[in-house]
Amino acid sequence: MTRGSDDEARIGLDPSLESHFAALLDRHKEAVARTEWSYQQYLPVATEQRPLSPTAYVAVETALLTEVNLPWYTAGLSHGLAACPSPIREFVRLWTSEEDQHATLLESYLLLTGSGDPSTRARSRKGMIAAGWHHELAGPFEGVIYTTMQEAATRTFYLCVARACDDEHPSLGAALRRIAKDETLHMAFYRDVVKAHLEKDPDHLSAVAAVMLSFEMPWSASVLHDFEERRAYLATRGVFRLSDYLDEVVQPLWSYWGLDGCASESAETRKAHGQLRRYRAALRKFARSEVPGGVAVGAAAAE
Ligand SMILES: [Fe+2]
Ligand SMILES: [Fe+2]
Repeated sequence: MTRGSDDEARIGLDPSLESHFAALLDRHKEAVARTEWSYQQYLPVATEQRPLSPTAYVAVETALLTEVNLPWYTAGLSHGLAACPSPIREFVRLWTSEEDQHATLLESYLLLTGSGDPSTRARSRKGMIAAGWHHELAGPFEGVIYTTMQEAATRTFYLCVARACDDEHPSLGAALRRIAKDETLHMAFYRDVVKAHLEKDPDHLSAVAAVMLSFEMPWSASVLHDFEERRAYLATRGVFRLSDYLDEVVQPLWSYWGLDGCASESAETRKAHGQLRRYRAALRKFARSEVPGGVAVGAAAAE
């Protein structure tokens, strides 16, 4: 993809917004201080120390395998955002410290409930980390858009799984909701960094279109070779369907970022508007026709 010089200027984060980034960082620290938690508070009570159902297990293991790749997400963000203002770099370190206990909680929960085979899971964990994390993001601004979407999707995934397992494992439902609150706070920081750029210069819309149209969770078939099967399996059981992605990720961000109002004379921005609208229309069509069988999140983008 070739980029004009104006686009080049929008690849980074705007240093003149540093005081705003600092205020977002302070807001995050205050929210975390009010709800501080540690993973051992959410382990299963004695009466729930029994294996999860197959659906809950696949969902939790998929989430766990995503969380264990944290070293590579940290490396990617730390490297990608290295030249950004200091509140952004501090947030990445804080974010890492908060994400760190998600995998610990999920693995401990699976061990204590005797769910799945720990040896197989250990091999999958090692395989995931050994594969690293690769992305096609063009720079810091696209990185922040991607991370917003990823945190929103992760939050939604956890809430869907919590709903699905509340009856069989109430403690697990509570644990997943607690993790989802972390993901929500993380999403809010990155989301508001994006919003500040769009408000200052609507021509940042092209980057939003580029990321949204190609968004995939950091699960890739090359890492989790059976990911498509997992996704289809869970969708048929009502856990994280395309409609969840549309209603809880794409549409709320679309509204919050005011994408319809990002007007500009720029041909690139007008083109981005058209691409985004066609993408959302295709998502809606797929979501409406969603039948048990699982439709891939990326399917609409391919249409
Ligand atoms: Fe997480
Ligand atoms: Fe996260």
